[in-house]
Amino acid sequence: MSQDAFRLTSPDGKVSDLPVRKGTIGPDVVDISTLYREQGVFTYDPGFVSTGSCASEITFIDGEEGVLMYRGYPVEQLAKHSSFIEVSYLLLHGELPTATQLEEFDRTIRMHTMLNEGMLNFFKGFRYDAHPMAMLSAVVGSMSAYYHDTTNAADAAHRDIFAHRILAKLPTIAAAAYKLNIGQPFMYPRNDLNYCENLLHMFFAVPAEPYEIDEVAAEALDLLFILHADHEQNCSTSTVRMAGSSGANPYSAIAAGISALWGPAHGGANEAVLSMLEEIGDTSQIGKYVAKAKDKNDPFRLMGFGHRVYKNFDPRATIIRKMAHKVLKKLGRKDTPLFDLALELEQVALKDEYFIEKNLYPNVDFYSGIIYRALGIPTSMFTVMFAIGRSVGWTAHWREMITDPSGKISRPRQLYTGSAQRDYLAIDKR
Ligand code: SDX
Repeated sequence: MSQDAFRLTSPDGKVSDLPVRKGTIGPDVVDISTLYREQGVFTYDPGFVSTGSCASEITFIDGEEGVLMYRGYPVEQLAKHSSFIEVSYLLLHGELPTATQLEEFDRTIRMHTMLNEGMLNFFKGFRYDAHPMAMLSAVVGSMSAYYHDTTNAADAAHRDIFAHRILAKLPTIAAAAYKLNIGQPFMYPRNDLNYCENLLHMFFAVPAEPYEIDEVAAEALDLLFILHADHEQNCSTSTVRMAGSSGANPYSAIAAGISALWGPAHGGANEAVLSMLEEIGDTSQIGKYVAKAKDKNDPFRLMGFGHRVYKNFDPRATIIRKMAHKVLKKLGRKDTPLFDLALELEQVALKDEYFIEKNLYPNVDFYSGIIYRALGIPTSMFTVMFAIGRSVGWTAHWREMITDPSGKISRPRQLYTGSAQRDYLAIDKR
């Protein structure tokens, strides 16, 4: 047996040498693609806890060491020195842009922020209190009904224009959903503003008076988008890859990712954290809720805690916690009671045996909502903000999947536990 193979011997002695594939860094993988043909068995891994679904060059995570890198660059360095638009270029193209490339990319994004005017009619049909994630997934899915000129995945120019449209238009769609929820008129994007300034303008400006953009708010948003931009094969990214693997048009694949992100176990957690903090109310109730989170018979979980991969601090949570402090102070927001409650809850949980034993640390969602709220963004919009940041990661993974020469449609198998064959029974015999 070669040293780069796992030898598998079946109960009746059949031997398979399964090749080991090595990445640049991180765990090796055992290639089991011949297993069924050789051994007549499937592997079984609900939730894909130990399963690599693809090879990727985009993002690396080390859950034990709390490492997150985009195209090899540590997220801490990108958070400190880069911008969301520059990080978006890096994720999409694999290299940091030159000054000229960045200027061209930034200009392209600014020129694609408007929606086809017909798309605005959707917002006349939604209920005023429709959840923004429902509107985002619906309107992004409708992009395939408008942009027929860029659905040929084999055409590199189409792939680029699709990427530009998703990145540029999501803030505009998000802002239209927000304006519907608060009964204010939609504000058109402005090409003279950068990505985050434009989002703040579309969210908070009104036709009745000039709106002054708060640079601290724009900077905080930019950092949050960098930290949310990508995260390897998480649930929503895997959904985009799977939907795209059938050859479905890319806008529909992104809409599928938005829907997957909405769940409270995933991107919906930031909204759930704020609701949980408000339910806890004050520090005197922390013990009761930590006990509920530990009680096997109680479905309550401490939202914003735990992670499938990070069994140490989520590096994003560390950066966001520091920024939350700075933003609250700079914006002079009175929201510190919630932030103080979050800090105290974190301290109590981190000292608790149950959380220590199960490696449950605050994740990216635990503090991000505090900042969004301090910026005046309502809780219902928090997962939409997550989707805006993650849209570039979804797009980068879709491009990597669709251009993979060995790519094929994703179609997992199963362990069948239903009825053995049985014959149809006439209704008078049942
Ligand atoms: C994101 O995958 C990604 O990369 C996601 C993400 C990204 O950038 O894309 O990082 C973004 O989704 C962050 C996670 C946001 N979700 C939450 O904060 C919701 C609360 N967290 C949990 O639901 C949970 O921790 C998950 C979903 C995040 C992870 O679940 P796993 O990996 O499937 O772990 P598990 O459910 O098997 O939990 C292991 C044990 C269980 O106890 P036992 O059955 O072993 O006795 O830990 C317990 C769980 O009950 N547990 C918790 C808990 N999270 C796990 N107990 C109390 N509170 C929690 N939050």
